[in-house]
Amino acid sequence: MKKVLSCIQPTGYMHFGNYFGAVENWVRLQENYNCVYGVVDYHAMTMPYNPKKLRENTWELIFNLLAVGVKAENLFIQSLVPEHTELGWIFNCFASFGQVSRMTQFKDKSSQSKEGDEGFISVGLYDYPVLQAADILIYKADYVPVGKDQEQHLELSRNIAQRFNNQVGKEYFVLPETLFTETPKILSTADPTRKMSKSAGEKHYISVFADEARIRKQIKSAVTDTGDTPAGTMSPGIENLFTFLKACNKTEAHESLMADYTSGGLKYVDLKTAVADALVELSATFKANKAELQANKKEVKNQIKASSYEIRKRAQQTVKEVKELCGLSNVRF
Ligand code: AMP
Ligand code: TRP
Repeated sequence: MKKVLSCIQPTGYMHFGNYFGAVENWVRLQENYNCVYGVVDYHAMTMPYNPKKLRENTWELIFNLLAVGVKAENLFIQSLVPEHTELGWIFNCFASFGQVSRMTQFKDKSSQSKEGDEGFISVGLYDYPVLQAADILIYKADYVPVGKDQEQHLELSRNIAQRFNNQVGKEYFVLPETLFTETPKILSTADPTRKMSKSAGEKHYISVFADEARIRKQIKSAVTDTGDTPAGTMSPGIENLFTFLKACNKTEAHESLMADYTSGGLKYVDLKTAVADALVELSATFKANKAELQANKKEVKNQIKASSYEIRKRAQQTVKEVKELCGLSNVRF
């Protein structure tokens, strides 16, 4: 079975953009691939952050991922597998300074940091893509499901793997491929010209675990038509609402409302009600799952610690082989 790996930074909550755009796909891939998914807390330290909140956010995200269907045995916490950082260091010596300097995510995030009140940019933020290469290569992943914005980091991972293989004279690392799947891009309901995102502020994202009333309110107040859409084209706000319906597998409602739209008889309130119902239904299932998991908090945490421990064995094996190959010393157990 081919191996899939992906990771997500702990932010404490999950919005419908994250769910439909990434996590739902993770859940699906578990059926046909050998999957490993990480909550990458070492990565979350690269921007100014709150140490008291980091562990809390990490566990919150773990519970959220489990509640939407990620299997516990496929899930690990990055800091419970410290070999990622060891391989990250080794990879620093196989990564091109010039190439790492060209990473656009670093440029974006460092300019965000500059605007922040601290104006602090860490070396970790710069080095982040090298740690990401370690996350991927340590499990010899064949496929990495990510968004387009991560293509540059994947290219770097392949170059590191290639340089390593050349240097040690062995095709040791598999060159990982990006798995771009058809996942919908979800827009902000408050401003459908931008994507749903937590960084834009509260009204620009809808949490998967929000109260029913809040979900309904956010959909009810969704911007539909700003009046500047050219005649004969669907406004981004309306299109976004249809995207939700499709993403929720509400095929019949989608078809009949689309027929109303085509004939010019669509009532926005009907579309919004259908979307709100669909999201509330999905959210209710996930909330019930989460409540059940939280009722067994200790057990669930132990399960994740155990799965991280199992997954760590694979990482340890890789690091041991890598140290052997590149002339470092290994402790024999
Ligand atoms: P982020 O929290 O922005 O780091 O994103 C985590 C994952 O969710 C990434 O794989 C993104 O591609 C995906 N994602 C985030 N926002 C959206 C969105 N509005 N629509 C679709 N996918 C998204
Ligand atoms: N850099 C990714 C992001 O910003 C998160 C990430 C870290 C990742 N390590 C990874 C994604 C390994 C895929 C594989 O979303």
